[in-house]
Amino acid sequence: MTAIHGTIKPTRRPGELGVHSLDRFHFSAPDLSVAKAFYEEFGLDVGEAGSQLTVKTRGAPHLWGTIGEGPRKKHGFMSFGAFEDDLERFAKRLQTLGVKRLDPPAGVDSNGLWFHDHDANMVEIKVAQKTSPNEKSGFANESAPAGARGAPFRRSVTRVHPRRLSHILMFTRDVRKAIDFYTSVLGLRLSDHSGEGIAFLHGVHGSDHHVLAFAHSNAPGFHHLSWDVGSIDDIGRGAMHMLGKGHSRGWGLGRHVLGSNYFHYVGDPWGSFCEYSADIDYVPADCDWKSDDHAPEDSFYVWGPNPPEDFTHNYEA
Ligand SMILES: [Fe+2]
Repeated sequence: MTAIHGTIKPTRRPGELGVHSLDRFHFSAPDLSVAKAFYEEFGLDVGEAGSQLTVKTRGAPHLWGTIGEGPRKKHGFMSFGAFEDDLERFAKRLQTLGVKRLDPPAGVDSNGLWFHDHDANMVEIKVAQKTSPNEKSGFANESAPAGARGAPFRRSVTRVHPRRLSHILMFTRDVRKAIDFYTSVLGLRLSDHSGEGIAFLHGVHGSDHHVLAFAHSNAPGFHHLSWDVGSIDDIGRGAMHMLGKGHSRGWGLGRHVLGSNYFHYVGDPWGSFCEYSADIDYVPADCDWKSDDHAPEDSFYVWGPNPPEDFTHNYEA
């Protein structure tokens, strides 16, 4: 995460107007003490700021998300990071496309550009440091040499702490409209999709295969937050820890086709999911990723256990 500390110049695709990062999420949940316990056990750093929870990854200053209290779990907004010299161009683009500017949500201190997306979700484009990685994230797949022990003893297994937020998967009423909106307004690019069922979008300035994905539903809502870890072993240790804390609802271990990442989803207390993800495909700033329409059987997973029956149920609907 050298970009966060500003020691390496972020990658940038010349001449392209597009957001570079998914900067922050916000949602509300009915009991913040339950939320705090869940995300801390997941391996994130959860703090309190006023009446909200703040979600960070261990040892990094970036604020990945905030959680406010509400009657039920509900998606709030997403903020996307842009380069400073692009903000004025984004403002002009919103005007040209007839996208109405809005005030920030109550209690949010921000001078970014706020507007509604195709589903009336609040979205912000703001100047921010590039938190999308500038190169493919490291993935450890080590084998012990002959004559040496590979696995740790149970007593010495350590906790897993995700390195960064990788992506958010949103439910939408219309996947085609979601693709159109987020590519034309925010400048994301379509990585892959499966008909009108699911679509994956990446940032043009170098990002994971998807920073944002959409799955069809009868209402908007967020399905999962995905957190990057460094190995299959990390995924397993995280899943095992959550199981030990009573979070047995979930899906994994498996491997996705589109994005290629290894995964384990842990069910959160509200019916949505938190994903441990490793080795997701990476689209560098100078790569024209070949987008395709894939068969439904390739839109989900290569291998893994059967998903829970309600895996794609939208509890916000
Ligand atoms: Fe995911």
